[in-house]
Amino acid sequence: MKIKKAVIPAAGLGTRVLPASKAMPKEMLPIVDKPAIQYIVEEAVASGIEDILIITSRGKTTVEDHFDRNPELEQKLLSSGKQDVYEQMVRISSLANIEYIRQKETKGLGHAVYCAKTFVGDEPFAVLYGDDVIYGGKPACRELCDAYEQYGLGIAGVQEVPLDAIGKYCSLKVDPLSPRLFKIFDMIEKPAPEEVMSPYAILGRCVLPAKIFSILEQTPPGAGGEIQLTDAMRRLALEETMIGVEYEGTRYDMGNKLGILQAIVEVGLQHAEVGGAFREYLRALSPKL
Ligand code: UTP
Repeated sequence: MKIKKAVIPAAGLGTRVLPASKAMPKEMLPIVDKPAIQYIVEEAVASGIEDILIITSRGKTTVEDHFDRNPELEQKLLSSGKQDVYEQMVRISSLANIEYIRQKETKGLGHAVYCAKTFVGDEPFAVLYGDDVIYGGKPACRELCDAYEQYGLGIAGVQEVPLDAIGKYCSLKVDPLSPRLFKIFDMIEKPAPEEVMSPYAILGRCVLPAKIFSILEQTPPGAGGEIQLTDAMRRLALEETMIGVEYEGTRYDMGNKLGILQAIVEVGLQHAEVGGAFREYLRALSPKL
């Protein structure tokens, strides 16, 4: 079954990147010249997604404005001969069919995804975490959708993380299936050292069957007092196993300060307009590091 719908949870408070995220959603933080969430929407579109639901919250209206038309700006660009920039601006608003819903209280990622129940209906759907930009390689969401079409099971985007950092993520119990593909039997969110099952964690993307909503209805608050998507996916993994896909691209966590810097440096180096000059700048800077 082809995956056509995606959900982008972007309602979190972003407390790790304050004060940047006080009045501006962290999902709108720029990587060179595009907000993080635009990279994510473009990845979804490149993966064959047609309908996108962005979960927002109070203070996140700039996300909606970004994907909307802006007639005054467009007129100004046209009248000053900036046809190419005009076309770029119009393209942003026609990338996909984007809808919005508000999560009224930030009760966790699982609760945010539950807000998409009506939008999703009975179909399997992709989830792209709003602060995780995956850059380079095949579109990660496409890799996961391909795996769903092949296996018909819930799919998680996974990466190996240093064992001393796994306590910040979720640890997976896995068996390798083929290179970059795993069977997932169990998982635990924010494990204590003795609970770690492997260095593999779910990072940034998943494709889930609609039955996740009935599971979420019964999922009590977990780590941090929030309704955790991992706890619901765990039920799915225990009941019918899931598949892990170690995606090709590099993930940048726009929800933490170092992640933002890494994204800007690495994407900046590849930027068509400023990449060359930026490389020169970094070369000149590096002896001083
Ligand atoms: P995070 O846990 O990284 O986001 O959630 P957060 O809560 O904003 O982070 P901190 O700890 O306060 O810095 C991953 C994704 O899920 C969304 C976030 O916006 C982010 O894109 N999310 C999280 C929601 O949509 N709703 C929530 O209740 C929690």
